[in-house]
Amino acid sequence: MTTENMMCDIGFIGLGVMGKNLVLNLADNGYTVAAFDLSTDKVNDAIAQDALENKSDKPRVVGCSSYTELFSRLKAPHTIVLSVPAGAPVDHVCESLIGAGIQPDDIVIDTGNSLWVDTVEREKKYKNNFILFSSAVSGGETGARFGPALMPSGSPYAWTRIKPIWEAIAAKVDPQTGKPLERTEPGQIVENGDPCAAYIGPAGAGHFVKMVHNGIEYADMQIICEAYHVLRAGLGYSPEEIAGIFENWNKGPLDSYLMEISVEVLRHKPNNDETPLVDLILDKAGQKGTGLWTAISALEVGCPAPTIAQAVFARSISSFKNLRVEASTKLEGPTLPTLSDSEKQAYVDRLHDAIYCSKICAYAQGFQLMSLAAKEYKWTLNFANIAKIWRAGCIIRAIFLQSITDAFERDSELENLLVDEFFIEQLNKHQINWRQAIADATILGVPIGAISSSLSYYDSVRCGVLPANLLQGQRDFFGAHTFERVDAPAGKKFHVEWSSEARKLIEL
Ligand code: 6PG
Repeated sequence: MTTENMMCDIGFIGLGVMGKNLVLNLADNGYTVAAFDLSTDKVNDAIAQDALENKSDKPRVVGCSSYTELFSRLKAPHTIVLSVPAGAPVDHVCESLIGAGIQPDDIVIDTGNSLWVDTVEREKKYKNNFILFSSAVSGGETGARFGPALMPSGSPYAWTRIKPIWEAIAAKVDPQTGKPLERTEPGQIVENGDPCAAYIGPAGAGHFVKMVHNGIEYADMQIICEAYHVLRAGLGYSPEEIAGIFENWNKGPLDSYLMEISVEVLRHKPNNDETPLVDLILDKAGQKGTGLWTAISALEVGCPAPTIAQAVFARSISSFKNLRVEASTKLEGPTLPTLSDSEKQAYVDRLHDAIYCSKICAYAQGFQLMSLAAKEYKWTLNFANIAKIWRAGCIIRAIFLQSITDAFERDSELENLLVDEFFIEQLNKHQINWRQAIADATILGVPIGAISSSLSYYDSVRCGVLPANLLQGQRDFFGAHTFERVDAPAGKKFHVEWSSEARKLIEL
């Protein structure tokens, strides 16, 4: 098949694993792609993969060896998708595109995990040169190939041009059941179904939402890992047995992609070895930063998000391997009790409920963070739509996102998921087991920071009176920071002259 003189619909820059798979996804959906990467090997690899997967009699992907060649192969106005690492590489590509003659009506779509404030700045910086649009992609390499969740944001005009492309390549959900309509084969197309791509808002909003997706992802992963730890170190189950427990849990409200892949990881024995892979993987967690950004953003807008922050701390503490190994020989923990099979089963059942409730808290924190950020940064976010596009394609896809969609469809202004009628019922039903599971783990000496901080969050949210009254008294004592009173109009300030003998109460 010759590609000579072929003019393409889309330009694509960055042919790493995500980029290459997005190119093939675009091609499957009928878009011709001019593909470029600084590495010629990556360009050749993408072309070779397309040759293997292209079932049509027409060429779909043209390899380009420079930015100039990329433009010479593109239909105008140009639409160029970037899949390059966040940060400086995005600016490097933008500058190179300017050098190669990009036009003001051309659109550049950043699909990486850029920091949202960088996206806001970039849109302004390049507005005279081209339209910078952003659309974070979630779903890893399989999602990119067969349907990711997409979080587009930026110029509404640009969205009108991008929408048909994005809706075609996105994951799809069965509108009746809310369940993913999977694509698994090259060339396969899902015609009907709700696409997991919805316009999020102005520049930066999409990257903010993707960042929060990742913060929730961190929390969800950590909660599952803590359950694994209790089952393994506290109750002595083998990886195979834990895979069986997780597989069972994956049939109910905990049904999720992360649970499913945890089963796969726990069952895997490389090269048919006896030792499960999980026992060979070093227990030091990596992180690229999106969970940390979520925790920082939560602190900045004053959103309580302890489960997400704790998930970041859990990764940090895991990296202190030498300290932990040394401390494990010096600091004592409890002696593990001997438990009967039925006692162990009761622990397992309680742990299931603890994961479910903790997961509700993690999502509640993420959604409240988006809501507070929307107020702060003047975005209008549609939370039902955000939950909808996370139902398939992305890493946190789960059956449970339909319940979140329903909650925001009942009340688009819902302040916190914990006060939605469905979640109230679920939490009330499971909270005793949640508490007991935390007591179990504590007595077994297994750390469960994300699960237990979720319970503290839950208890704080449902606490009509918190000890912040004493705290305000302390602040007033040492710093004359004043306080409000329960029996005075809101906003009226009081202070006690603590250093005088009379300790007179002053109305300010
Ligand atoms: C996704 C993932 C993706 C990436 C994370 C990994 O939605 O597809 O979240 O964006 O895998 O950034 O993050 P860490 O390396 O920080 O775990």
